[in-house]
Amino acid sequence: MANPEATAEAAGEPDSPDAELRAQAAELFEDIPRAAEPPSGRPVTRAKVDLGAMLFFDPRMSVSGVFSCQSCHNIGIGGTDQLETSIGHGWQQGPRNSPTMLNAVFNAAQFWDGRAEDLAEQAKGPVQAGVEMNNTPENLIATLESMPGYVEAFKAAFPGEENPVTFDNFALAIEAFETTLVTPNSRFDQWLMGMDGAMTEQEKRGLAAYMDAGCSTCHAGVNFGGQEYYPFGLVEAPDPEVRPEGDVGRYQITQTEEDQYVFRAAPLRNVALTAPYFHSGQVWDLEEAVRIMANAQLGTELAEEQAQDITAFLGTLTGEQPQVIHPTLPVRTGSTPLPAPIQQDVGEGKAAD
Ligand code: HEC
Ligand code: HEC
Repeated sequence: MANPEATAEAAGEPDSPDAELRAQAAELFEDIPRAAEPPSGRPVTRAKVDLGAMLFFDPRMSVSGVFSCQSCHNIGIGGTDQLETSIGHGWQQGPRNSPTMLNAVFNAAQFWDGRAEDLAEQAKGPVQAGVEMNNTPENLIATLESMPGYVEAFKAAFPGEENPVTFDNFALAIEAFETTLVTPNSRFDQWLMGMDGAMTEQEKRGLAAYMDAGCSTCHAGVNFGGQEYYPFGLVEAPDPEVRPEGDVGRYQITQTEEDQYVFRAAPLRNVALTAPYFHSGQVWDLEEAVRIMANAQLGTELAEEQAQDITAFLGTLTGEQPQVIHPTLPVRTGSTPLPAPIQQDVGEGKAAD
C-alpha cells in the first residue's frame, strides 16, 4: 500500500504537473489527521473510548432494547443507516436522514441544523428523542447501574469521581469514542500531500470544477463542510420533494426570518458511501445531488461532463474506514429494567399514509 507520509516531500516539488492545482486546493482544504481532539479540548483516554464504544453499540440504551446508536449510524456503511429518514422507537419514521458521525468531530456544530454545540451535547439527544431511543436519563442510569460491568467501566473512565455513572459522563464517553471515528488517508488526502498518482485525470478535472464552480465556498476545510449555515435554495428553491415544506431548518431554533430553510453545509467526506442525500434523504444518486446543488446554491446548470467529473472527484474523499471491534457488553442482572413493550401506533413522527 502506498504511504502518503513517505511521499509527502513531493508536495513542494515545483515541477509536478499538479503543482498549481495542489496549491489552489491547499488554500481551501486540509487532510484528515489520524488522531483528532474534540473542540472542547476534553481529554480522550483509552478507558473513555472503550466505554463509549460499549454505549454506542448497546441497544439497551433505548427504552425498547431495540435501538443502539449503531442502528442508525452503522460504522460498516459509512456511519449511516442508508434509509431515506431514520426508523426509531416503535418503528416510527423520523423526519430527517441520519448523517454520518464519521469525522463529525471536525464539524463546528452537530445536526443538519447545527442545534447541538458538540458531540457530548448531541449524544444526549437521541437517547431521549421519542422517534429514536425514547429513553429517560433516569431509566438509562438505572440500566447502567444495574450492571457491574458498566459501573466498573465508568469508574475506569472517570477516575476519582465519587459517582461516575451519570448522564453527563455517558455523553462524554460517547464523545471520546466518536472522536476516534475519523477516516484519514483518502485518495484526495494522499494527492494533497504530494502523490500525483493518487487521483485520476477525471478526478483532478472534477476537483478543478468543484473549486471553479464555487462548491468550495461552502464545502471546504478538513471536512469539506460542516462549518457554516446557508439557505438550502440560496439561488433557486429545490423541488419540494427534496426540500419538504414543513422542515424549515435553523428557523426552528432562531425564529429569525432569514433562517428559513437554512441548514449546515453538509460535510462531504465519505459522501460516496452515505446515500441517500440531503436532510430529506430523497436523492439516492450522487450525481443528481451534485446537479441539484449547482442549481439550488449557485444558479448554475452543470454540463454533463462537469457533473460527472465532480462526482468522480467526490469519490476520492472516501477515507480509511474505522476498524472497530464490537465490544462484549456487560451482562444484565435481576435489577436491570426490562425492555418497554413496543407500541406500534404512537408518535407524531410516524409517516402518514
Ligand atoms: C433512530 C435513529 C437514530 C439513533 C438511534 C441515533 N441517531 Fe444519531 N442521528 C439520527 C438522525 C436522523 C440525525 C439527524 C437529526 C437532525 O439533524 O435533526 C442524527 C444525528 C447525529 C449526529 C450528528 C452528525 C452531524 O453531522 O451533524 C451524531 C454525532 C449522532 N447522531 C450520534 C448518535 C449517537 C451517539 C447515538 C446514540 C446515543 C445516536 N446518534 C442514535 C438518527 C439516529
Ligand atoms: C451556498 C452554500 C453551498 C454551495 C455553494 C454548495 N452547497 Fe452543497 N450543501 C449546502 C447545504 C446547506 C447543504 C445541506 C442541504 C440539506 O439541507 O439537505 C448541502 C448539501 C450537499 C450535499 C448532500 C450531502 C449529504 O450528505 O446529503 C452534496 C453532495 C453537496 N452539497 C455537494 C455540493 C456541490 C458538488 C456543490 C457545487 C456544485 C455544492 N454542494 C455547493 C450548501 C452549499
